Amino acid sequence: MAEIGVGLVGYKFMGRAHSNAYRQVARFFEVDPAPRMMALCGRDEAGVRAAAQQLGWEGYETDYHRLVARDDIGLVDVATPGNSHKEVVLAALAAGKHVLCEKPLANTLDEAREMLAAARAAGPGVVTMVNFNYRRVPAVQLAQRLIANGTLGEIRHWRAVYLQDWINDPEFPLVWRMKKELAGSGALGDIAAHILDLAHFIVGPVAEVVGTMNTFIKERPLEVASGGGSGLTAEAATEKGPVTVDDATTFLARFASGATGTFEATRLAPGRRNYNSFEVNGSNGSLVFNLERLNELRVFLADDPEGMQGFRTINVTEPAHPYTGAWWPAGHILGYEHTFVHAIKDLLDGIKAGTSPAPTFEDGFRCQAVLDAVERSVDSGSWEKPAEA
Ligand SMILES: NC(=O)c1ccc[n+]([C@@H]2O[C@H](COP(=O)([O-])OP(=O)(O)OC[C@H]3O[C@@H](n4cnc5c(N)ncnc54)[C@H](O)[C@@H]3O)[C@@H](O)[C@H]2O)c1
Repeated sequence: MAEIGVGLVGYKFMGRAHSNAYRQVARFFEVDPAPRMMALCGRDEAGVRAAAQQLGWEGYETDYHRLVARDDIGLVDVATPGNSHKEVVLAALAAGKHVLCEKPLANTLDEAREMLAAARAAGPGVVTMVNFNYRRVPAVQLAQRLIANGTLGEIRHWRAVYLQDWINDPEFPLVWRMKKELAGSGALGDIAAHILDLAHFIVGPVAEVVGTMNTFIKERPLEVASGGGSGLTAEAATEKGPVTVDDATTFLARFASGATGTFEATRLAPGRRNYNSFEVNGSNGSLVFNLERLNELRVFLADDPEGMQGFRTINVTEPAHPYTGAWWPAGHILGYEHTFVHAIKDLLDGIKAGTSPAPTFEDGFRCQAVLDAVERSVDSGSWEKPAEA
């Protein structure tokens, strides 16, 4: 079996999730090439050395330029905050490497456009993908299939929320996710981007949006220089600084298909730890997904016999379901980390076939264009259309 050397930039939350996926993928799926975990990259030598050892990497680099120049690395994986996506991705593409980039593709539409152009210019042999990993929850795949094969009939409504509460405490420090120059936006790019990508996957392109964005907690204690942790935890100093992104966003959407959509994303919903949920209503039925119960899909079919109608809960772990047959017997449930393994499996299949798997950089750009349209609509107070690539 062939191997492909992988270089991963960033080693905290997503770095750990991606490392786990590279370690597991060839143990459960037949992949060719199999990933070889050549080097982890980070700026702090002591930190990256320790992380490389813990996460199973053969070596490390402290400068991504050296990483992308290595002949033994064929795939570069970018798991850093959004402000560095463009520069690392462009350097990797210029060196002819395949690229996996964390979501959202970039911090601005202009950056996303440049990255898409570079991916197109790199040619069909260079495979690129954006890591909107929730597409690869088996229940989400089943939802998409039930809509694509017409089981739900004509799709009329998409209703999605992504609710978290990790910054509800006003004393939670000003980490990079609350700084526009590093994160691009707040709840919008961080979590609304996920439900928007799911909407694009399941319902199709969004044609128009109008929205709100709010920053309820306008300043926070500065972060004490962080050590370990996931980037979602940090220690607070006494001095304060301004929050320059949104805490919460809501928007209405019209899909190109004619369906209507609502989206709400906030990091200020006490008790909602990672509540990523959507409901779809079609002329012949409805379905409901909730990430906190990710093995399940709730489905209502209007043509069930009278007296027997109601939502059924499908445990999406049968061999007939996407990805699940490679893991455990039916009913032996999967978790968050499996979505990353599935993404890497599809990426490796794409590399073998010479085709970029979805979500492609086109998909990443389309998502960015809608995020940009939401921001414009907040300023204009009217409906805005996403830009074309
Ligand atoms: N797919 C998902 O479900 C998901 C979940 C969380 C985060 N993300 C995305 O993943 C990316 C990283 O987020 P995270 O939560 O892992 O953040 P994090 O803060 O936990 O980790 C970021 C890592 O990047 C490193 N880094 C920062 N700037 C760098 C630079 N210029 N060069 C090299 N290394 C640099 C940091 O030192 C750290 O190791 C973001 O784009 C985020 O939106 C995706």
